[in-house]
Amino acid sequence: MVQIKSLEEYLKTYTRSVEQPELFWSEIAEQFDWIQKWDKTFESDMIKAEFKWFRNAKLNITSNCIDRHLDNKSDQTALLFVPNSPDEAAQKITYKELSLMVNRMANTLKDLGVSKGDRVCIYLPMIPELAAAVLACARIGAIHSVVFAGFSSTAVAARINDSSSKVMITSDGGYRGNKTIDLKGIVNDALKSCDSVESVLTIKRTGQETVMIEGRDYWYEDISKNLSDECEPEIMDAEDPLFILYTSGSTGKPKGMLHSTGGYMVYTGFTFKNVFQYESGDIYWCTADIGWITGHSYILYGPLLNGATTVMFEGVPSYPDFGRFWEIIEKYKVNQFYTAPTAIRSLAKESLEWVEKYDLSSIKVLGSVGEPINEEAWHWYDEHIGKRNCPIVDTWWQTETGGIMISPIPHVTPTKPTYATLPLPGIQPVLLDEQHKEITVNPAQGSLCIKHAWPSMARTIWGDHQRYIDTYFSAYKGYYFTGDGALRDDAGYYRITGRMDDVIIVSGHNLGTAPIEDAINEHPAVAESAIIGFPHDIKGNALYGFVILKESGTDRNQDELRIEINKMISDHIGPIAKLDKIQFVSGLPKTRSGKIMRRILRKIGEGDLSNFGDISTLLNPEIVEEIIEGRL
Ligand code: WTA
Repeated sequence: MVQIKSLEEYLKTYTRSVEQPELFWSEIAEQFDWIQKWDKTFESDMIKAEFKWFRNAKLNITSNCIDRHLDNKSDQTALLFVPNSPDEAAQKITYKELSLMVNRMANTLKDLGVSKGDRVCIYLPMIPELAAAVLACARIGAIHSVVFAGFSSTAVAARINDSSSKVMITSDGGYRGNKTIDLKGIVNDALKSCDSVESVLTIKRTGQETVMIEGRDYWYEDISKNLSDECEPEIMDAEDPLFILYTSGSTGKPKGMLHSTGGYMVYTGFTFKNVFQYESGDIYWCTADIGWITGHSYILYGPLLNGATTVMFEGVPSYPDFGRFWEIIEKYKVNQFYTAPTAIRSLAKESLEWVEKYDLSSIKVLGSVGEPINEEAWHWYDEHIGKRNCPIVDTWWQTETGGIMISPIPHVTPTKPTYATLPLPGIQPVLLDEQHKEITVNPAQGSLCIKHAWPSMARTIWGDHQRYIDTYFSAYKGYYFTGDGALRDDAGYYRITGRMDDVIIVSGHNLGTAPIEDAINEHPAVAESAIIGFPHDIKGNALYGFVILKESGTDRNQDELRIEINKMISDHIGPIAKLDKIQFVSGLPKTRSGKIMRRILRKIGEGDLSNFGDISTLLNPEIVEEIIEGRL
C-alpha cells in the first residue's frame, strides 16, 4: 500500500492528487486485487449527484480483506476479540479462521434464500459473529444494513422497513458493562411491524431465554452446522452497493446512506494505512461500535484490507472499572488506539491512578473521531496516554464520506491541538462564505464543503436520490456540503467547529432534533417541542427540550412527565437520545412564518443571555422573557 512518510512526500502526493486525480487514484487502486480492471477511473456530476468510481471494474471486497492474506498471513490474528467481562478469555481469530467463519455464515445466508442485492439487517453486539455477518453479506453480494444494538425496537423497525431487509441477524442478548440487553426481544417487537423479513438468524451469546418463532427464527449454530465453510466470492461491479448505514437527518426519517464496493475499498484501505501508519504485526484498536461508520471502515474493512490485527471490544470503558481501556492496551500491546473525545473526557475526569497502573508504552499513534476534541481533552490524551510521544490524529469525516477526509498523518503532519489539520490526498475541502463564494485567504471561517468527488463518497440515500441531492448538493451548487462549519488557520489547517444544521452530536452520536421532537410530540400531554444542544463536560453536547403542554397536561406532575417523555424517546429511538433537561413552556419563540427560532433557544440553553439580536420580528417576543425565567 502506498505509504506517505514525510511532509515533502505528502505535499507532492497531494498536489498530484489534485492535478491528476485519475492517475493518482488508479495507482492506489492498482494495489488491490481486482477480477477485472476499470476502463475509467471516475465519472462525477456534482449537480445530479451521480458518481462512478472504477467504472466496469469487478471485484469482491472480502477476497481483498481475507483470501488475499491466506498465503502468508493465514495464522496471523485478524480479529482479537476482547469480551465484556475480563473473566472471559479473549479470542484470537486468525485470517484462516475468519475465512471459515465468513464462508459458513455466507452459505447460511444463501441457504435462507439471500442473494446478490438483497438487504440483510444486522443487529448484534460487538462479538466476532458481527464481523462475520458483515463480511458474509459482502461475500455473496448482499447489502448489509447494520443497526447499532442500542437502538429501540421502533428505530430498528423503521430501518428494516426503509431498506426492506429480507433477513435479520441478531443474538439472544448482549452484554454491556453490568447490563444484559434483550436483543432478540427487541427484534421480536420490531418485527411485529415489518413484513419484509422472512428469517431471523439468531446467534447464541448470553444464553438467555427467548421466544423463537417457528419457520422464521433459526439458531445459527443449528442451521449452519452442516453447511460448507467454503464459499466462492460473488463477482461484484465496483459500483454495486456494499452497504446501507443510517444516519440522522433534519427530518424524522433516518437517511440510509448507500456505499458502493470498489471506491469504498480503495479509500478505506488507503486511509487506514496512512492515517494510522500501520506496520505489519502491529495491534490496532478502534473502540467504536461496528454499528457506526467508524466501526465499518476502521474496525473491519480498512484494517482487514491491510492484513492488520484489529481488536474488537465488546464492553464499555467503565467496566469493571475505569482502567479497562488501559488494561487492554497493556495486555495486548496495542500500537494504534482510536477513540472518541467523549470517552477521553469521561476517563480524564477519573483518577489518574487508573492510567498510571498500566504500561502504555506500546502505543505509537492515538486517534480521535466523531466530534471536535476540546483543548483540555487533547492535552490530557497527549500527556497521559501518549506520554507526549505519540502523534494524535484528529480525524474528521462522516458516515457519508465513508473514510477519513481531514487528518494529520503521524510523523508527517505537525499536529496542532483541536485541529484536524490537512486534507488527505485526493480530498479537496473548501470554505464557502455566505455568498457561496470560496474563501481563498487565510485565516478564514465558513461552511465546509468538498469540491471534488472522492472514491468512498456515499452514492445516494437508499430509495430517495432527491433527498441526497437536496441534503448535500443543493445548498452550494457544484459542491458537496458537509453540514459542518470550520476554521482555517494561516497554515491552511482546518478546525471543525461543529454542525450548522439540526444535528446535535451527543457523546459522539449524531442525533437529529426532528426525530426526537417527533417522539416527544407523541406523548398525549404534549402539544409541541423543540430540542437544542447545550455544552456538556463529558458528552460534548447534551440535549435540552422545551415542551409546550396541552391543556390536559398542565395539571400533571412535571417530574413524572419528564420521566414519561424520556421513556417515549427511549422507546422510539434509544436511550442515547434522552434529554438532560426538560423545561415546560407556554410557547416557543417563532418567526412570523411560524419557524421556531432555535438560535434564541440555543443561547438560553448555553446560558448566554447577553445578546439575542433583534427579537422584535418574532411573532411572540414576550415568550423569551418567560423562557429565560424558567431556565434550567
Ligand atoms: C463530526 C463519524 C470535529 C462532524 C465519523 C461530522 C467531527 C459528524 C470529527 C459525522 C472531528 C466527526 N472533529 N467533528 N475529528 N469527526 N465529526 O456520521 O460534525 O457519525 O459531520 O461520522 O461528526 O458523524 P458520523
